[in-house]
Amino acid sequence: MTFEHPMWLPDRALSFLTGLPVHVAAGDEPLLDTVRREAERAGAVLVDDPIPAGGLTVVPADAAAGLGPEGFELSSAGERTTVSYGGAHGALYGWFQVLRDLARGVRHDAPARFEPAQRLRVLDHWDNIAVHPVMGQVERGYSGGSIFYADGALRDDLSRVERYARLLASIGINAVTVNNVNVGRREARLLSDDLGTVERLAAVFRPWGIRVHLSIDFAAPLNLGDLDTSDPLDGRVAQWWADATTRVCTRIPDFGGYLVKADSEGQPGPHAYGRDHADGANMLARALAPHGAVVRWRAFVYNHRQDWRDRSTDRARAAYDTFVPLDGRFDDNVVLQVKYGPLDFQTREPLSPVIPAMAQTNVALELQVTQEYTGQQRHAVYLAPQWSEILGFRPFGEDRPALAELVRGGIAAVANVGDDGFWTGHPLAQANLYGYGRLAWDPTLDPSALLDEWIALTFGDDAAVAAGIHAILDDSWRTYESYTAPLGVGFMVTPGSHYGPAVDGYEYSPWGTYHFADRDGIGVDRTVATGTGYAGQYPEPWASRFESVDTVPDEVLLFFHHVPYTHRLHSGRTVIQHIYDTHFAGAARAAGMAAEWDALRGRVDDDVWMPAAERFAEQVRSATEWRDQVNTYFWRTSGIADERGRTIY
Ligand code: GCU
Repeated sequence: MTFEHPMWLPDRALSFLTGLPVHVAAGDEPLLDTVRREAERAGAVLVDDPIPAGGLTVVPADAAAGLGPEGFELSSAGERTTVSYGGAHGALYGWFQVLRDLARGVRHDAPARFEPAQRLRVLDHWDNIAVHPVMGQVERGYSGGSIFYADGALRDDLSRVERYARLLASIGINAVTVNNVNVGRREARLLSDDLGTVERLAAVFRPWGIRVHLSIDFAAPLNLGDLDTSDPLDGRVAQWWADATTRVCTRIPDFGGYLVKADSEGQPGPHAYGRDHADGANMLARALAPHGAVVRWRAFVYNHRQDWRDRSTDRARAAYDTFVPLDGRFDDNVVLQVKYGPLDFQTREPLSPVIPAMAQTNVALELQVTQEYTGQQRHAVYLAPQWSEILGFRPFGEDRPALAELVRGGIAAVANVGDDGFWTGHPLAQANLYGYGRLAWDPTLDPSALLDEWIALTFGDDAAVAAGIHAILDDSWRTYESYTAPLGVGFMVTPGSHYGPAVDGYEYSPWGTYHFADRDGIGVDRTVATGTGYAGQYPEPWASRFESVDTVPDEVLLFFHHVPYTHRLHSGRTVIQHIYDTHFAGAARAAGMAAEWDALRGRVDDDVWMPAAERFAEQVRSATEWRDQVNTYFWRTSGIADERGRTIY
């Protein structure tokens, strides 16, 4: 058998229960069976009555406890731990919380209550069935092929998918989209003659409380050859979707719903028929509603054929301009899925203003666990601190709700898993998958504490290993930011691949992602007073804060303002000196991270240590390349020397 890393669920995680009595309430819910099978797997002794004095008891909570279907309460008394669950999902999540607690010696002498903050916690796989000539098997995938598909079809052996489902359940994920948002011809057939593929996958995920979602081609009625239109207001089209959806939901009764990328980057949508996004989304929502499923409609809509000479169009404005006028028009089972920033999963962007602006719409937040713009799983970059910052952002001011409280449609993220032995390419990128699930469940968890939790489960209790990995990862997102994109400038990446530096790579492209550096200054004027007006899409106090160079936070200065290189930041440094300093420091820190990994040789299994060491070498090389290209570019452009006289080429 080929190598497969157990991620954060090594057998040792179960060993604490070996030989102990475990009582699971009677009941034939499949998820309770899953808990019983887990107990057997742990070598526990399953007992019916009477409830054992020691060991673990998993029983329904009193209705008075008011737990939701996925919630549970944990309490310890003497040698006995009790999981009281609201519904069978809660029993499963409670089981995995017990494993986490046992591995880390945590007890709950006072009962602790666990309830997910969001009902929908989903991973979107950008997996293709037919290998795409440019994007490959998994679009923006950095972990090998797809765990679902190989050789143009669903894999025969789905045992790895089952292990994956178990891992996801253990961190509270309850939905998975099984195909890419860019839906090719082959993948469109998942809705028609290849529905069996979705059905088989759903059967594997079901025992783990995970519902399957499908990315669909909005023009399927036309493209599959059944109708001569896909106009959402044409009754035949609505009927076509109602029939197709009934077929899906008859075979997959717990089907989760559709994910739609419409009128976005060349994908078809309602605009072709003069209809808007609400017309399109509601038509699908009505087909799904009788089956208890949702349509997730993506807000990633902008003009991707812009002329760089055209200064009146600002891509950052697009989602707000398109969707905010539609607030209030979406059906209840429409979820508008919004990327966290107005551009595209950059290392640093201000929060998307669409989220606070759409109070009458079920908005979901979309994150990217796969590291498209953050080092592609060749750089060790722990992203939970970024997500935590996003989730904790308070768009209406410090005393008002955090973003996590405004989002009601769920949390979604692009998956980082593939068929390589570590699941995630870089062994340390597993921390991102773990952190995502845990934050989607509870956005107030501390990312640094989550990192320690993940390290303890994955690597055991060697204190030197724990301290070393913590030191490497804890601040790695800011380190990556420091040697790549300064002060909120994005897209200085190699076009197409998005890996490695190319300061002007996108500067004259049609994609609308420019930094406008010239000999005097850099940045995009997005103010209301003199720029594109984007800053005005925020509510107060942020609209005013972003509008003024005096109050805009340094880290997004260049996202909102075009300033001279000599502009002084709140930090006291000039912009140009900040660029030099952070790039030198960031590349040096990357080398430091590699040295810290080196010091763990012999303490971490060679199987894990070696492939990560190779990636650290690449990270150091790449960070040096970033440092030198960015510093040299701005030294040549500005003519301003580094105050500290370091080598710039
Ligand atoms: C990015 C990414 C694409 C993807 C798109 C999306 O632009 O580079 O590969 O299709 O996001 O989110 O739809």
